[in-house]
Amino acid sequence: GAAVEVDISTLQPGEKRVVEWRGKPVWIMRRSPEQLAALEKVEPQLADPTSERKAYPTPEYAKNRHRSIKPEVFVGVGICTHLGCSPGDKFTPGPQPSLPDDWVGGFLCACHGSTFDLAGRVFKNKPAPDNLEVPPHYYTSDTTLLIG
Ligand code: FES
Repeated sequence: GAAVEVDISTLQPGEKRVVEWRGKPVWIMRRSPEQLAALEKVEPQLADPTSERKAYPTPEYAKNRHRSIKPEVFVGVGICTHLGCSPGDKFTPGPQPSLPDDWVGGFLCACHGSTFDLAGRVFKNKPAPDNLEVPPHYYTSDTTLLIG
């Protein structure tokens, strides 16, 4: 099959890795406690905080605030749900070019300005119609992830 196995044992808090799955970039990010806490703070600003929209259905096991099986480990497809650019990393909190002054960290799609939090949830009033896709995945051990 096309499943991709990933060893996440050395993935550090705040670190994001990219693997390829079915020709798509899949992001695997271990969020720090501060980054996880920020997910709650931004919820009023999100278009679909509980991932109810159906264009890119979120698996049941990721229909939670962190959109993941393990709270700290995000697994998401790094392709903007607007027109398919790959958003860039803007992890650093605080004012940054083309982002709100109260930015707490996330992803910015430079093509048309869609912004996403560190769970891939799209902010309101952005061209991207949906949160980033969460690919089917599961753990075969505490530190081994199977995507697909
Ligand atoms: Fe990302 Fe348009 S492709 S905002």
